[in-house]
Amino acid sequence: MQNTDKINNTATKSYLVLLSLMIKNVIPCRIFTANLYISITMKILVTGTAGFIGFFLAQKLLDAGYEVIGLDNINDYYDVQLKYARLKETGISADEITEGKYITSKLFPNYRFIKLDLENEAALRQLFETEKFDYVCHLAAQAGVRYSLQNPYTYIQSNIVGFMHLLEMARHFPVKHFVYASTSSVYGLNARMPLSPHHDTSHPISLYAATKKANEMMAHSYSHLFHIPTTGLRFFTVYGPWGRPDMALFLFTRNILANKPIQVFNYGEMIRDFTYVTDIVEGVKRVIEHPATPHPDWDAQNPDPAYSSAPYRIYNIGNSRPVKLMDYIHAIEKVLGKKAQLEKLPMQPGDVHATFADMQDLIEAVDYKPATPVEEGVRKFIEWYRAFYQV
Ligand SMILES: NC(=O)c1ccc[n+]([C@@H]2O[C@H](COP(=O)([O-])OP(=O)(O)OC[C@H]3O[C@@H](n4cnc5c(N)ncnc54)[C@H](O)[C@@H]3O)[C@@H](O)[C@H]2O)c1
Repeated sequence: MQNTDKINNTATKSYLVLLSLMIKNVIPCRIFTANLYISITMKILVTGTAGFIGFFLAQKLLDAGYEVIGLDNINDYYDVQLKYARLKETGISADEITEGKYITSKLFPNYRFIKLDLENEAALRQLFETEKFDYVCHLAAQAGVRYSLQNPYTYIQSNIVGFMHLLEMARHFPVKHFVYASTSSVYGLNARMPLSPHHDTSHPISLYAATKKANEMMAHSYSHLFHIPTTGLRFFTVYGPWGRPDMALFLFTRNILANKPIQVFNYGEMIRDFTYVTDIVEGVKRVIEHPATPHPDWDAQNPDPAYSSAPYRIYNIGNSRPVKLMDYIHAIEKVLGKKAQLEKLPMQPGDVHATFADMQDLIEAVDYKPATPVEEGVRKFIEWYRAFYQV
């Protein structure tokens, strides 16, 4: 009898601890027992889910039990067929997609997709009013350094106006955590390696980087004014299956297979911290579940750019193992079993010479650091590329 009481007491205590964790914070949970069923599903808006990283993040969160609303305007910055194929892979078929209409995934019952432009403030307001999100992870943006030289205003519209609308939504429809994608490009002229979020980043060298830096500053002001917990994640050259056709790995693989030369900028003298996409989304998920708080070490006399007296954080998320561009090319050649024809060219305006992430803060905060070696990531990309394009 005493034993049964003890078990009941322990069970009750465990329920209460779990329940308080779920209510206070973060974990999407379903608990089944003979006489108790609790289901608390956290609802998250992920923007950019027809895009490369958003496509992976949506699946990661769905697998973890979240209810996910994916949003994307499916723009034609690169081949829209690839965007539709990613959506199809998550159970959203192209023929059902209409602007502003929810589509429920055929594969994930907890996934709905909506085609919307971030510039459409009225539609966003309606979305937030109806859905009452627990979290926002904002990945949709006009990406790419080089394109920002030809199409600067697209960056202002998507990355500044769109970002602003989302911040306003988070202000009026409070969320537990607003996480957004920044970039290693914000380090610009700063060449102190490894690149640390505690360094100054006042010298971006492309409009793309400047818009991302502006996002970090806008987020800080909203964290301060309206106590919105915000975290900006500076991604370091993300690559992997379903990757972006404007990025090096995709362009190199395509041209080597087609016996065409590949363009190698700065005569190959570049260093990149290539980060595998599933490592990135693991880190993003952990950060989402770790809302920013005011930092106890904040010192207004000596302000640190990575944190604040407001609930605000900036983290790097990179592999922290920089690779020479020529070694990356050799890794591709090895998997393809084919030599690349190199067209060596000078440095492209807007590009940085080297990236190398200092990961200390992320490790301390969420006990995580990407680990996939470049050789393995390149092999997985090429396997996907050959199967997808049947080459
Ligand atoms: N891939 C990388 O190496 C890398 C590196 C640093 C930062 N980032 C950032 O990570 C995020 C995701 O990048 P990605 O590589 O998946 O890019 P991506 O281009 O594949 O995905 C972005 C998605 O956002 C959508 N989008 C753009 N403007 C929009 C708008 N106004 N309204 C609604 N949707 C819009 C696009 O249609 C696209 O599908 C971006 O913010 C990017 O700047 C990426």
